[in-house]
Amino acid sequence: MEAKGVSSAGDDAALEPSRPRTFIKDIVRGATEELVGRKVVVGGWVKTGREQGRGSFAFLELNDGSCLANLQVIVDAAVHPLTQLVPTGTCVLVEGELKKPPEGAKQSVELKVESVLEVGTVDPAKYPLPKTRKGFTLEFLRDFGHLRARTNTISAVARIRDELAYATHTFFRKNGFRYVHTPIITTSDCEGAGEMFQVTTLFSKAEKEEKELKQNPRPSETDIEAAKLLVKEKGETVSQLKSSKASEEEISASVSELIKAKESLSRLEERFKLKAGIPQKDGKIDYAGDFFGRQAFLTVSGQLQVETYACALGNVYTFGPTFRAENSHTTRHLAEFWMVEPEIAFANLEDDMNYAESYVKFLCQWLLDNCIEDMEFLKTFDEAAIERLKLVSSSPFERISYTKAVQLLKNVTDKEFAIEVEWGIDLASEHERYLTEVLFKKPVIVYNYPKGIKAFYMKLNDDQKTVAAMDVLVPKVGELIGGSQREERLDVLVKRIKESGLPLEPYEWYLDLRRYGTVKHSGFGLGFERMILFATGMENIRDVIPFPRYPGRADL
Ligand code: 4AD
Ligand code: MG
Repeated sequence: MEAKGVSSAGDDAALEPSRPRTFIKDIVRGATEELVGRKVVVGGWVKTGREQGRGSFAFLELNDGSCLANLQVIVDAAVHPLTQLVPTGTCVLVEGELKKPPEGAKQSVELKVESVLEVGTVDPAKYPLPKTRKGFTLEFLRDFGHLRARTNTISAVARIRDELAYATHTFFRKNGFRYVHTPIITTSDCEGAGEMFQVTTLFSKAEKEEKELKQNPRPSETDIEAAKLLVKEKGETVSQLKSSKASEEEISASVSELIKAKESLSRLEERFKLKAGIPQKDGKIDYAGDFFGRQAFLTVSGQLQVETYACALGNVYTFGPTFRAENSHTTRHLAEFWMVEPEIAFANLEDDMNYAESYVKFLCQWLLDNCIEDMEFLKTFDEAAIERLKLVSSSPFERISYTKAVQLLKNVTDKEFAIEVEWGIDLASEHERYLTEVLFKKPVIVYNYPKGIKAFYMKLNDDQKTVAAMDVLVPKVGELIGGSQREERLDVLVKRIKESGLPLEPYEWYLDLRRYGTVKHSGFGLGFERMILFATGMENIRDVIPFPRYPGRADL
């Protein structure tokens, strides 16, 4: 027999909670005729509340996060003390009947409360968020990371983010990809750019040892000498007892004393060697005593590890948090961001570009199909956001080589770039945005970059100067995706690692993929927050991730 509230796998019915609650989205999007007269339980947080009719009843605008729209809720003073319900931020769980509002009301249905089941009160004098959006900026809200999801903007972004994650899994599943969880902690630097956060317990260990040593100081040399003397004496006693043919009990008692004295000496000697601080060897930090017995980091990309699965399962992707310790204060960079990284066996650069383009289009179409209410609301930040989604989902991306891009940028006369364009430079955000926003007015894929500015794993082209890399550039954001065909030739890869100034040892396992059954393969990484920025038109990447981390800030 099935437990109550639990449905078996494959059964489409949702789980039945102990107190069934109707989501506000199902009420505001439902057909009025079917809703009116229905008894429902609704729970949410009061956006605004006002007492009416000289305190005889109150209107509450209730939001439960299931959608942008609020439900208008009417409570009579006889049902519950109204002053407790009206403050913004109050949480209520109420039961009542859905009614048709009077002619001319903007909502199609409202809830007349019959009983208030639960209340989470708010002291309005202390609630930090103002009632309306006019009262605060998004920057102000970043100081309230624990409360900002209650605002229309941040909750709309959260729903869009969730939809994009779901769309991502849907897209890759539809195309025969398997989801692989790559490690967060790694010992190899994927991008070789030295922007990794180190993972170590050496500091906390040193601090703990230092504290312990203060409480329980290291033994002195005299203590050690005394302990040595004791061991000597106990040893002599044992010999004397043995030579005087003492009883077995006497001998074994003195032997156990000798053992104790030896143990105590070795403990003291151990503690005598204790040195607080970070262990060093040959003038360098000694990681042998660190948690992993070697230097470890937070990953900058799951690519290298996901390649191992591509070389076994074929089409795979990883989607997880990645970390970069770059000191960037821009509106496009985070220290912790999420990346979607497909890796495709038997695929060349062109296949890679095709997958990237079709994935981005799929995401845009998904938002048009599933998130239009939130997208309409976010138009206050960028009037053109919805049009952009339509355009991107329906028209082909431009594809140009890096060499062509440089030529085009060199010919630009209507704008002066801060960084002059020369073949060989890493295109800066200003160049990327000019290409996509001004020259082509749509997403542009730039491919075949100079090898000197790209990572070691990218396939060297026959010209020996460029690698089979590609970046997808989009309006508003610039670089959204970075990807490449991977170098599958062992000898070339070894040479590229060395040329990049990286040690071979940490990459031996990666080289094994080329030693044993090497395969042409390609992949890319899409910056998930950049995708949300691009889609919503929001200005700052710090507002499209629930808990932004950037230099100087890691709240909560
Ligand atoms: O171009 P990147 O560095 O590529 C890689 O890490 C490859 N290993 C991916 C792969 O081939 N599997 O980063 C990929 C994308 C960028 O295009 C950008 O959208 C995003 O990640 N990104 C960032 N997003 C937010 N904050 C940062 N600091 C970012 N750095 C990169
Ligand atoms: Mg890149």
